[in-house]
Amino acid sequence: MLEIAGALGFTFRAMHILITAGPTHEPLDPVRYLANRSSGKMGYALADAAARAGHVVDLVSGPVALSPPEGVQLHQVTTAVEMLETTLTLLPGIQLSIFAAAVCDYRAASIASEKIKKSGRGLTLDLVENPDILATAAASGTGAKCVGFAAETENVLDQARQKLHRKGCDAIIANDVSRSDAGMGSDFNEVTLILNSGHEITYPLQSKTLLAAKLIAELTRADCFTRSDSR
Ligand code: PMT
Repeated sequence: MLEIAGALGFTFRAMHILITAGPTHEPLDPVRYLANRSSGKMGYALADAAARAGHVVDLVSGPVALSPPEGVQLHQVTTAVEMLETTLTLLPGIQLSIFAAAVCDYRAASIASEKIKKSGRGLTLDLVENPDILATAAASGTGAKCVGFAAETENVLDQARQKLHRKGCDAIIANDVSRSDAGMGSDFNEVTLILNSGHEITYPLQSKTLLAAKLIAELTRADCFTRSDSR
């Protein structure tokens, strides 16, 4: 971390920040895969906001149709296992990591080497659980603060609070993904940042660009993960 103290008593802390974004694609055969509707917009907006604020940013991205933000180091991956490997390689030296990616929870137990043919009898897929990248990073002991997103469709805040503790992270951003005007795929979002200290901040519906700038400003505050004042 680099600290620059100004004449007015203002101190800028340049951090090394890792952000995951987008979906993962889990291949079934040479032409098909499992995926989800994540566009990558939230993660890319966070990476852009962090770079604009003067931080060093590594963006680990699943397959998306977005251009990388200026000044950001892009690491393109396809599967959850690749995202995990890249994240763990980058994690030492990172001060803040934000996991905005919508990682597929499952992958095929084995990938068919040829295109799966129709049999006329339906198809049963044998799936295995993917590694949890956020939980693995949080347990890695590198010292990086780990901030997850919780994509929920019901009891959003309660589910997010439980996920924060289950995954052992420092904060979680509760995201209602049942809405059509916000969340996955949209240019807009409405979230609640829940810190391990119990402190919570709700950000009303706004563009992902604006929201990302506010989240980065909050998460890079020197006292973000320790203060418990209510605002
Ligand atoms: O990409 P957009 O279209 O802009 O949409 C943004 C978003 C809705 C995808 C994003 O804001 C969001 O909510 N991302 C989290 C999506 C998700 O997979 O949530 P989850 O509740 O299933 O997972 C909880 C956390 O664990 C997330 O930080 C996720 O990145 C992480 N995770 C999940 C599974 C897994 N195997 N490894 C993980 O690291």
